[in-house]
Amino acid sequence: MTPLETAPPGLAGGRRVFLKREDVHELGAFKWRGALPTLEQYQTRGARGVVTASTGNHGAATAWAARRTGLSAVVFAPQNASRTKLDVIASQGAEIRLVGRDLDEAKEEGRAFALARNWPFFEDGDEPAQYGGYGEIAIEILQQCPERPGAVVVPVGNGALAAGIGLVLKERSPGTALIAVAAAEAPVMAPEEAAGTTAARVEALAAGPGGSVPCPRPPPRQATSATRSGKTTRTERA
Ligand SMILES: Cc1ncc(COP(=O)(O)O)c(C=O)c1O
Repeated sequence: MTPLETAPPGLAGGRRVFLKREDVHELGAFKWRGALPTLEQYQTRGARGVVTASTGNHGAATAWAARRTGLSAVVFAPQNASRTKLDVIASQGAEIRLVGRDLDEAKEEGRAFALARNWPFFEDGDEPAQYGGYGEIAIEILQQCPERPGAVVVPVGNGALAAGIGLVLKERSPGTALIAVAAAEAPVMAPEEAAGTTAARVEALAAGPGGSVPCPRPPPRQATSATRSGKTTRTERA
């Protein structure tokens, strides 16, 4: 269980704010929570290795989980990927293949490679086990928080983290709002798409096993922030 800490006053702005310290994990991020159960499933189904494509945390988490499950891992990354992040992936024992100009090209190569080896291709955000793993974060928050949280604010990339957390909140603390936030500088999902897709994933996953929806491609617009039901107000933006 990662710590839930009271936010420093400068950050809290007079409100009661807590920080869920997923960064204290050795990889510095939450991604292992989804990668480990996903790779355990691959292993149970007889896989000997796993292939993925990533420029950073997802690749590192896949490599970390592969080491723990005894699978081989091959991580495809675009040629311009950050050396620092690649070093983390390599330090976990994964083989790195630098191909393509961007992540989409690296994914394409990775999928072909996985198919040829008959290994699973781990697409970040497409595995139901990831949502269960991320849901553990919400379960911990509800256990650790001294009162029912009014809202849980979640950073958004492809929306899987927010969906996994939202699924648990919906079941166990329906009065808690889920606020999904994308950095204005990061060209990820547009706010209305983030909100709609996250809500759709929560609904689909709530409907039962296999009910995930695919990750959308980032739109060519600047993302700002989003809630489950639409855009946030200015005051909600963190
Ligand atoms: C540190 C960190 N926070 C948040 C996110 C967003 O998670 P998701 O892509 O599941 O929406 C990511 C995704 O890589 C991440 O690495």
